[in-house]
Amino acid sequence: MKETLSRIRSEALEQIGAPDANLEEIRIKYLGKKGALTAVLRGMGALSPEERPLIGQLANEVRESIETAIAEKSKELQAKKLEAKLKAEKLDVTMPATAAPVGHIHPLTRAQRELENIFIGMGFSIAEGPEVELDYYNFQALNIPENHPARDTQDTFYITDNILLRSQTSPVQVRVMEHQKPPIRIISPGRVYRSDALDATHSPLFHQLEGLVIDKGITMGDLKGTLAVFAKKMFGEDTQIRFRPHHFPFTEPSAEVDVSCFVCGGKGCRLCKGEGWIEILGAGMVHPFVLSNCGIDPEEYSGFAFGLGIERITMARYGIDDIRLFYENDERFLEQF
Ligand code: PHE
Repeated sequence: MKETLSRIRSEALEQIGAPDANLEEIRIKYLGKKGALTAVLRGMGALSPEERPLIGQLANEVRESIETAIAEKSKELQAKKLEAKLKAEKLDVTMPATAAPVGHIHPLTRAQRELENIFIGMGFSIAEGPEVELDYYNFQALNIPENHPARDTQDTFYITDNILLRSQTSPVQVRVMEHQKPPIRIISPGRVYRSDALDATHSPLFHQLEGLVIDKGITMGDLKGTLAVFAKKMFGEDTQIRFRPHHFPFTEPSAEVDVSCFVCGGKGCRLCKGEGWIEILGAGMVHPFVLSNCGIDPEEYSGFAFGLGIERITMARYGIDDIRLFYENDERFLEQF
């Protein structure tokens, strides 16, 4: 029996030592219920009482040495596995990362910020108002009563008879004048809406920037000076401005304002359609009715206002011929800015 036990031990240890040892199989083969060692223990009944404890002890030693060998080998195999895994999954944190595509601001946002900066530099501050507006602020307070023909050219989207999507940023003028005593010097950029069908030059949603100055003794000369500085900053130092008489219900007198073509300098080219001038905004002296509607005494104060389309200015500046390009999110277009 002694020989059997030591044969079991050496056989088992040899198998455990093999590089591709299947430890679980070996364990079952020697230590399992039907294993070789168990078989030896079963036969112990036939031994003499003196031999029994000796063989029993030896059997235990054999079991222990096999168990230890299996445990050690298992640890070793696991360490090897981990090492291989670490090698395979090696990560070089100093390697340059793959660049994620980064976008940039939309040309309209960029134009708006540029406009804002020019006017902030002239002492204006930014005012904002709601896009969902009362009829009163969008029309009535601006001297456009019900049935006034100007409502046709600024037809918009109605939520109720009384609530609409603002068709211009001019209602912000009214809201500011209601709450702030002169001197007032604000610009109000933002979205406006009109029920126009979308085509190359019209969109039911577009952006305006409006300016308003109210103080004692403000004249048309201040308006001209302000816009002349603006035009030079926006389109270049050589830019001239030109006023053409026009009509807006909320200003009197009113004008449409052109800038000399910044491509041909006034000689006439494709951009200005041979005119030498490009129309960029509407302006005028705030109508006395509008001032008194807002609680400002027109005998004491006067002021000017102007409004421009941000799309229109951006299109002129970059020679963009279709307003829809701004809203289509086509990267081939946007990447050019
Ligand atoms: N709100 C006018 C428009 O949308 C533009 C404008 C603003 C004209 C201020 C004069 C003064 O057409």
